[in-house]
Amino acid sequence: MVDLPAPSEECGSRRFSIQTEADVMAVARGARQLAEHLGFSQVRAYHLATATSELATNLAVYAGGGMVQLHVIEDPAKANRIGVELRVEDQGPGIPDLALAMTEGFSTGARLGCGLPGASRLMDEFSIDTSAHQGTRIRAVKWRQPALLPTAPISTEAGSLAPTRTAP
Ligand SMILES: Nc1ncnc2c1ncn2[C@@H]1O[C@H](COP(=O)(O)OP(=O)(O)OP(=O)(O)O)[C@@H](O)[C@H]1O
Ligand SMILES: [Mg+2]
Repeated sequence: MVDLPAPSEECGSRRFSIQTEADVMAVARGARQLAEHLGFSQVRAYHLATATSELATNLAVYAGGGMVQLHVIEDPAKANRIGVELRVEDQGPGIPDLALAMTEGFSTGARLGCGLPGASRLMDEFSIDTSAHQGTRIRAVKWRQPALLPTAPISTEAGSLAPTRTAP
């Protein structure tokens, strides 16, 4: 078990109703404060806050509003690994062609079309469930620490050495 710090007053509620731009700013600020409180680096906290802002903006623009929840989670497979889980839900029209919506530059709103693909890159885990009947649900996770990624082995005369590097 990880000894999680109690959220401070500034973290506020972790469940946010999104209708307006002010709501978007509030949830993005809440995400960043929660991440920093949990010991995320400023860069990783910024990634989480930016993804949160993009997904919450989509709620306001395309779905007539919705809900964002921020949860502190522990990785069951790795002790001491904690993260912030983002759950974004709406009961809007759904996304008819998800592959297209995840394509950089695609927008039905004459916007840049960067929000969904950008958010998926900024988060460590990202999944979308969408239908015309039930709206759109997104689950995404940002872990406090970057994952250790294996790199190509370096050949040496004595054999090979497999170093690891860390994701940004
Ligand atoms: N919650 C949602 N409900 C319905 N459609 C959505 C939702 N979120 C995204 N979409 C659809 O997916 C498209 C791509 O979303 P994305 O966030 O990548 O781009 P955008 O919002 O159009 O532009 P940007 O995010 O760069 O301002 C949107 O144009 C919209 O058609
Ligand atoms: Mg968007």
